[in-house]
Parts: sequence; structure tokens; C-alpha cells
Amino acid sequence: MGYNRSSDANEITQKYMDSILIEERIIDSVLADTSIEFLGGNFSMPVMMPAFSHLGNLNGRELTGLEEYSLAAKNKNILNFCGMMENDMFEKIMATGASTVRIVKPYDDNGKVRDQMKFAEDKGAFAIGMDIDHIFGETGLDVCVGEKMAVQTSDMIRSYVESTKLPFIVKGVLSVKDALICANAGVAAIIVSHHHGRMPYAIPPMMILPDIKEALEGTGVRIIVDCGIASGADVYKALALGADACAVGRSMLPSLEKDGIAGVEGFLDKAGNELRYIMSNTGFAKVSDIDDSALWFM
Ligand SMILES: Cc1cc2nc3c(=O)[nH]c(=O)nc-3n(C[C@H](O)[C@H](O)[C@H](O)COP(=O)(O)O)c2cc1C
Repeated sequence: MGYNRSSDANEITQKYMDSILIEERIIDSVLADTSIEFLGGNFSMPVMMPAFSHLGNLNGRELTGLEEYSLAAKNKNILNFCGMMENDMFEKIMATGASTVRIVKPYDDNGKVRDQMKFAEDKGAFAIGMDIDHIFGETGLDVCVGEKMAVQTSDMIRSYVESTKLPFIVKGVLSVKDALICANAGVAAIIVSHHHGRMPYAIPPMMILPDIKEALEGTGVRIIVDCGIASGADVYKALALGADACAVGRSMLPSLEKDGIAGVEGFLDKAGNELRYIMSNTGFAKVSDIDDSALWFM
């Protein structure tokens, strides 16, 4: 029949993002500035590192991939993230000097959740958070690298927020409902994400972003988007649709694997330059000025 369909959220997300076009508005425009303020920090651009885990020593180099991309984040003054790991690995990441957000897994062992959050706070993390989209797995509650995960309630999220003086970030929000629960619980920021397509037919983060942005208006909750962000153009589209910043993900891996710190720095330079170019071409001088008025939907 020649009928092809894919439930792969990565593919669906890519198609949606690529269907958004950008018009030019150059006359009277100036060279744009990509710098941002985010949760009290000042960064060179609204591009952030991914909350990755389990990257060993790539290409036989001395540092792990996690440390290498953290050093690139520090050198380029962007916000760093890290994911599932034990405290000793987190300590190595903090030793790079990067402003780092620790995303803790929704472990069944809630003592471990709280211990990792406390450890991050004690070691000077920029913020802490949890990836709530890793609770359920294909056959029940998820088991990730041998560790069982547990259901997280609104009250538990509020208790994490109240247990720390750091901003608390919820990663894996993909509905207005969850976004509002986060806002009511005092969460500082959310990451609109489907965690590289864990759920079939998951909504492209950019597609639901305008609804989430509208629902969070006036709450002060900041919005990060990830999944499929590979270029400055992708970042621009996400900002235009309501995000404050984007996190890159697997798009950064080939540069990291091949050339380590320098490779990631080159990747970030390219994304930042493309973002500045498109902002300048569409008449937005500052990141906070960007709106959706230059977007066209095919
Ligand atoms: C190797 C690898 C490890 C990851 N580990 C984590 C993790 O521990 N915690 C987490 O929240 N997300 C983790 N992620 C998901 C990323 O943070 C991010 O949400 C996702 O990769 C975004 O999609 P993209 O790769 O299409 O950009 C991981 C992704 C990869 C590729």
C-alpha cells in the first residue's frame, strides 16, 4: 500500500521542527546579543548542556566525556547539566568549575534521591532537579542500570523544592497539567522534553511549548526545551515559541567523541553564531525580545 507510519517521537519531533520556517526582517535591525540571565546566573547564550550520564573515556582520552563537556560548558560560559550518577562522579564534574545542574533519577530508594540532592547542594551545584519521565518503563516501573524507579507525587515534588535552597528543576514535562503542578509546587524551571523519545507518539516539545508558556504566564517558572536541538536555528525556533533556553543532546555527541572539549566548544560556537545570525536577520536584538512573529508553519 506504500503506507508508512512511525511512532518514533524523535522522527515526529524532527519533522515538526523542520516544518517551521523563518522570515527575514533586516532593515533597521542590529547585530544581536545572545547573552541571557537564567535563575540568577549570566550566560553567553541560551544553549545548555544535556543531562547526560554513562559517558566513559572517549577515544582513550584521560577525562570522561561527562567531564569534557562540562569543561566546554565552563569555557563557553553556558549552563551545564548532568544526569544519573553516583556522588563520586558528580564531584568530578563539580571539579571542572562548570555551573552545573544535577538531575537526580526518581529512584525507588527515596533516601538516595535526598542524599544525592543534599550532596549536590553541599558541593555548590547551581540547581538540582529530577527527570520525571524515567519513572515508568516498558514492563512496569522502570529499572535503569539495575536501579528501580518509583512514582513521584505532587507532594514529593513540593518536598524536594522545600528541602533545598537551590532552584529545583523538573525535567520531562510534556503537558500543561504537569507544568501547572510544577508551578504550584514552587519549581523554579521545567524542561519540556520527551527524553529522546521514550514514549511513542510523544508530542514534539516545540509543538506544546506555546500552550505551556501561556499556562505558566506570571508564575515565574522558567522554561527549557530539549529533544532534537541540533543548531542555532532550532534554538531560535524554540525561543520564538516560548522557551527561555534549549539544551542540546545527542547532536553534540559526534563532536564530543571525536575532539573532546575542543569539539564541543566548536559545536557550541557554531550554534551560538547561527542563533546570533538568525536573531539579527529577524530584527531581534536581545534574546528576551524574541517572539513568534517571524515564524511560518508549513
Ligand atoms: C547517553 C545519554 C545519557 C542520558 N542520561 C540521562 C540522564 O541520566 N538523565 C536525564 O535526565 N536524561 C538523560 N539523557 C537524556 C538527555 O538529557 C536529553 O533529554 C535527550 O538526549 C534529549 O534528546 P536529544 O538527544 O534528541 O537531543 C541521556 C541521553 C543520552 C543520549
